[in-house]
Amino acid sequence: MASKPDLNAPYPYARDKRCPLDLPPQIAETRNDDGMQQVTLWNGNKAWLATRWEDVRTILSSPDISSDAEKANYPAVSASRSAQAKSYKTIFTMDPPVHGQYRRTLTKDFAFKRMQELRPMIEEALNSLYDQMEQGGKPADFVEAVALPLPSLVVSMLLGVPYSDREALQEWSRNRMALDTSPEVVQDSAKKMGEYFDRLFAEKEALYSDKSKNPGDPADLVSRLAVEQILPGHITRLDAVLMCNILYIAGHETTANQIGFGLLGLLTKPEQKANMLQSDESVKNGVEEMLRYYSVVHLHSPRVCTKDMIVGGQEIKAGDGVFALLSGANRDPKHYDDPDAFDVTRNAIPHMAFGFGIHQCIGQSLARLELQILFESVFKRFPNLKLAVPEESLEYKENATVYGLKTLPVTW
Ligand code: HEM
Repeated sequence: MASKPDLNAPYPYARDKRCPLDLPPQIAETRNDDGMQQVTLWNGNKAWLATRWEDVRTILSSPDISSDAEKANYPAVSASRSAQAKSYKTIFTMDPPVHGQYRRTLTKDFAFKRMQELRPMIEEALNSLYDQMEQGGKPADFVEAVALPLPSLVVSMLLGVPYSDREALQEWSRNRMALDTSPEVVQDSAKKMGEYFDRLFAEKEALYSDKSKNPGDPADLVSRLAVEQILPGHITRLDAVLMCNILYIAGHETTANQIGFGLLGLLTKPEQKANMLQSDESVKNGVEEMLRYYSVVHLHSPRVCTKDMIVGGQEIKAGDGVFALLSGANRDPKHYDDPDAFDVTRNAIPHMAFGFGIHQCIGQSLARLELQILFESVFKRFPNLKLAVPEESLEYKENATVYGLKTLPVTW
């Protein structure tokens, strides 16, 4: 009989290397046990861990829960994550009412109409990535050739950032997302990224303030924020800079990792591939299962309780730190039959891959669009696509808040 996993191990719990797509064994154990589990963090601090669907939902929808990283006991999974959360206030670490005001300035950029405008551009970008992968010859690393460049291109189009600046932007983002970068590197990357967007906004403000230049309607998010928000004085340039920092970070690595995992699922399970590729509707349905099953945002969401409350029968005190584990909720057997099976025919909605409550992912319609376009097209373009290495040899990004594959070697 397998021994009971150690619930007192430092948090975040490690996954079992033999089954890297399963959650750490402690997660199922906490659900079977008392539900809410107290965990010990890197700095010796304690925090509550919620892994049941109902408990995660209760926490994320409660008005007595704060996202403010300045609060004592705000739980962070490493020193670098603590530095990242405290380095600048972002939409992730804001509470109402400021959070809502800030979020509303972005809703236009993710509205249905904007997504429809982006669709042909995403299709074109993807086709040219497929061309480049083909021309580069086989085998190819799908992560490097397609999964990472696609969301980087898309988020660059959305923001109006030159794609040629991606290397620096991606490096700063990676440093800010990793669990093991030093706090100094995190702060330095945040500073450089801030200076980058500050320069971009300065250029756009100058362009749109000068009537003789006649730049036309602002087409991208940076131009729109400059014209509609900064120049009339609704928000400061610093606010806008911080928004774009976070959109760039949140918008590319998440989607990239989700693409890599989704493709791995289909390449290793031919019956799932056959089920998924039956129609555009089955692709849409399968994408939701990919989001649920792989739950790339696997260590979130940190919160602080502001009022004594009961969650899953456990009293949580005002001032206690809490993690509402989305990946845990997405594998809760009380919510899904056979939750550890990847089954693209199941109805995975509602799932919590994009969070729940007021901080639910603002970019989810864009992420879904990218995933749907990719999975509608990839096997049409490469009907014989397959893994170029044994699945067991794949390496996983274990030291990052967003889980993913380091590489995905493929051939066709
Ligand atoms: C598969 C891809 C994605 C996944 C799995 C994902 C997941 C999430 C999750 C779980 C949250 C909530 C975090 C919390 O409650 O603490 C979140 C928030 C957020 N996401 Fe995403 N995301 C994805 C793609 C994107 C994209 C494409 C963008 C933008 C271009 C984006 C921008 C944001 C922003 C700005 C927030 C903060 C919202 C707020 O605090 O009100 N995400 N995302």
